Amino acid sequence: MAVTDLGRERVPMLFCLNINNLSREIDVPAGTTLLSVLRDDLDLTGTRYGCGQGICGACYVLADGRAIPACTLSVEESVGRNIVTVEGLSKEGALHPVQAAFVEEDAMQCGYCTSGMLVSAVALMTRTPNPTDDQIRDALTPHLCRCGVYQRAIRAVKRAAQ
Ligand code: FES
Ligand code: FES
Repeated sequence: MAVTDLGRERVPMLFCLNINNLSREIDVPAGTTLLSVLRDDLDLTGTRYGCGQGICGACYVLADGRAIPACTLSVEESVGRNIVTVEGLSKEGALHPVQAAFVEEDAMQCGYCTSGMLVSAVALMTRTPNPTDDQIRDALTPHLCRCGVYQRAIRAVKRAAQ
């Protein structure tokens, strides 16, 4: 059993999810987390497993444009929502401007927290194209980074806004 699969009961059901603008049918037990579906069933491993409790920010995805932890959303709660993972941020092979800015500012070290930060930064800039420093800090607050790239990440979001 995969580490992201610990809460699964063993009665599979069919769910239809919208992931990165594709309709995906998933046969998993109710109660399975979206994080488990993404990583274990769809091989979308850019969304990371960290705490499994909604407190580290490693697993954030966009759900109808809002950045939320995929480890606290069940597969049934994901039905009918437009889910975008870090793999869905780039378009036609081109990085999203926020991704490009993270590269330009070297806003990553081990990279474990990066996909979650990118998702929250994209959510912020979609609703607030020119965010203040405080708004950027607030958006990135859920994301714990053991490598301490916070200042570089803030600079990257500001660069993307320019
Ligand atoms: S793994 Fe989801 S917030 Fe930590
Ligand atoms: S870059 Fe290593 S955890 Fe953030």
